[in-house]
Amino acid sequence: MNDNQQKNLQEIINHLKTSGFVYQNAEIYGGVVNTWDYGNLATQMMTEIKRLWVREFIKRENNYQIDSKIITNPLVWKASGHIDNFADYLIENKVNGKRYRADHIVKDLFPNINVEKATFSELEEIIKTNVKEFDGEKTEWTSIRPFNLMFKTQMGAIDSSANQTYLRPETAQGIFVNFKNVARTTRAKLPFGIGQIGKSFRNEITPRDFIFRTREFEQMELEFFCNPNEDEHYYKYWINKCKDFVQLLGLKNDNIRIRPHEQEELSHYSKGTSDIEYLFPFGWGELLGIANRGNYDLSQHMKYSNESLEYLNDDGSKIIPYVIEPSIGLDRLLFALLIDAFEVEQLVENDNRIVLKLDYNIAPYQVAILPLMKKINSKATEIYEKLLKETDIRVTYDEAGSIGKRYRRQDAIGTPFAITIDYETYDNNTVTIRNRDSMEQTRISIDEIESYLNKFKK
Ligand code: GAP
Repeated sequence: MNDNQQKNLQEIINHLKTSGFVYQNAEIYGGVVNTWDYGNLATQMMTEIKRLWVREFIKRENNYQIDSKIITNPLVWKASGHIDNFADYLIENKVNGKRYRADHIVKDLFPNINVEKATFSELEEIIKTNVKEFDGEKTEWTSIRPFNLMFKTQMGAIDSSANQTYLRPETAQGIFVNFKNVARTTRAKLPFGIGQIGKSFRNEITPRDFIFRTREFEQMELEFFCNPNEDEHYYKYWINKCKDFVQLLGLKNDNIRIRPHEQEELSHYSKGTSDIEYLFPFGWGELLGIANRGNYDLSQHMKYSNESLEYLNDDGSKIIPYVIEPSIGLDRLLFALLIDAFEVEQLVENDNRIVLKLDYNIAPYQVAILPLMKKINSKATEIYEKLLKETDIRVTYDEAGSIGKRYRRQDAIGTPFAITIDYETYDNNTVTIRNRDSMEQTRISIDEIESYLNKFKK
């Protein structure tokens, strides 16, 4: 069995909660079901993941980035198909009024059934015939019905259906409706991409598995516009790019796989989709997706807006570009990175350490400054201040408790290096630098600290 499936998810979640990565949302009021806030450590990581996404998907690819609104004209969602098609299969147990996603029940209880291929009525039949008890209760199931995942809201002060709109369920549509604006103002030539990072909202029937499936989450999406005859080429290109990206962040190769969707499970807009899946402790799950959306979205927006979103070729001919979309959920990626990094190591008998083996580039802190003696700390504070104020290195400082305890605290939050300032530092301006993973210590001069650390920058 792969390592990851032996990891105890509850232990990981407890660790993330107690060490300050994640807090229960509105905890002092009893919380909100499966809704989490990110603490300082997770927020630092997410900032770095987003920075690297911008570097890899926008800057280095010569693409463009926008920031569109969460609440928009509801016609956008009519045109995109979300009002009519964006639904999950809801089934209710009449005994206690609890609602579930029918495909999740079948997937959990009958792992051999391919739920992606099953129809509404097949799922209903399986559940009604076989699931007589669920969640510790007798069952009396309703029929399955589609449940639209869009969050409804009102725009403006008048509470009327004319003002009803939605929180966006994906960032992608904000890009499609701005396609013409971006093409005109940048004078970009095909192929080119437009990306954005932002919050999306889905009224999930059963948010679950910690931050894997939540009702509010962040996406990093790129819509890559190309000539219709180039779609296959760029579809493969972006699949590879996404795989490279998650590996750049440090995910282990053994824990990721590419899964092309079967015809039956393709979304209403998709000509082809591949997921990159991650081996979570609860099994393989979608981490991110790459879809060939053809010209579905631009065509739909042309139809509903009566505006041309065609692209003018140099020879004067017009086309509706095809779109390849790599779409990454930031929260889910963060979760996978934390699970991948989490290890409990036995050092000597009865002595374990929890260590997060996060890549240097996304670790919340990259180095910790630890003066051996609290009373003699002038050199330590000097080094700390210099790294803090004069470099981009994420640095923390800790002088409380024994040096062993301080190393463990840093291991547990994933700090790759710890610098100890001792008596010798005052004699010859050298410090020890400890490697989190090997726990080896090397002596280097204070002047070398920055260049030593910068070697790990990708
Ligand atoms: N624009 C295409 C799109 O939104 P999707 O497969 O529905 O496609 C893309 O979502 C990614 O967004 C997923 O692969 C996942 O990483 C993330 N995602 C989707 N729903 C989510 C949820 N409820 N909670 C957390 N992440 C989610």
